[in-house]
Amino acid sequence: MSDRDLIGRIEELKRERDAVILVHNYQAAEVQEIADFLGDSLALSRQAAASGASTIVFCGVYFMAETAAILSPGKTILIPDPDAGCPMANMLPAGELRAFKEKHPGAVVVAYVNSSAAAKAEADLCCTSANAPAVINSIPEGKEIIFAPDKFLGDWAMKQTGRRLILYPGYCPVHRMLDRAAILRARRAHPDALVMVHPECTPEVIAEADEVLSTSGMVRLARESDRREFIVGTEADMTVCLRRENPGKKFHPASPRVICPNMKKTGLEKVLWSLEENRHRVTVPEEIRLKALKAVEAMVSIS
Ligand code: 13P
Ligand code: SF4
Repeated sequence: MSDRDLIGRIEELKRERDAVILVHNYQAAEVQEIADFLGDSLALSRQAAASGASTIVFCGVYFMAETAAILSPGKTILIPDPDAGCPMANMLPAGELRAFKEKHPGAVVVAYVNSSAAAKAEADLCCTSANAPAVINSIPEGKEIIFAPDKFLGDWAMKQTGRRLILYPGYCPVHRMLDRAAILRARRAHPDALVMVHPECTPEVIAEADEVLSTSGMVRLARESDRREFIVGTEADMTVCLRRENPGKKFHPASPRVICPNMKKTGLEKVLWSLEENRHRVTVPEEIRLKALKAVEAMVSIS
């Protein structure tokens, strides 16, 4: 089947199944094309909860679909490839977070949304890259704060808020591939470009950036800025949606090597099979879901 035929069949089945397709900004270009809604982790989970559709096909990684299942227990949440995990989320088994908490009794626990439902159930609050400083600022002064699993996002949030955080030693291996030398090279090659990077990058990369933004923050800045040229320091396919939305502007990946292999596990065929066979269903045990929901709702009420 050609991509056109696959897309036609997906559209048909979507209507029959009362389904919507939510797509993360890092998905491959052909998957971005079938999105009813394209966005960052926070916007996608909100959209999943707000949507009137009974089935949601989540084209992203597992924790994102799980977050949708936490927020929308009455809906069928499908992930086209259940092996599309997030190595950073996998760095934080719930048992490790429990052990970390025991070393810091009384600390408020903030879990980055890139974590399993079981880890979120151990947290007081969730955050995303779009709202980490706001979430931290909502915690009363003087409280100890554990931030997990992303030590780089945590380091950046610490600098933004002036608060001290106890950092769990996780990180995103994809963003860690981007080094300072790549940013300096990209600047030399495109001296008029504005450099925007994701806060999952290392502190050395963040120090070289003009703007530090979540993926939806990048979309907004590219749309609203008078600048015509941008260096994009995050997953390379982020440039796909930026280019489509801003045909008159130029976007250069800071490094074409920064590819998240898990985000690329979803393709049009798998989306079609997912709709045809109603698979792979993502569910969260109710006891964990209710605890994780508290942390996710606490975040949503702040931002
Ligand atoms: P955003 O929330 O900025 O979309 O980031 C999600 C992610 O996994 C980044 O690696
Ligand atoms: Fe996880 Fe990093 Fe991939 Fe985002 S880019 S999904 S944090 S591995």
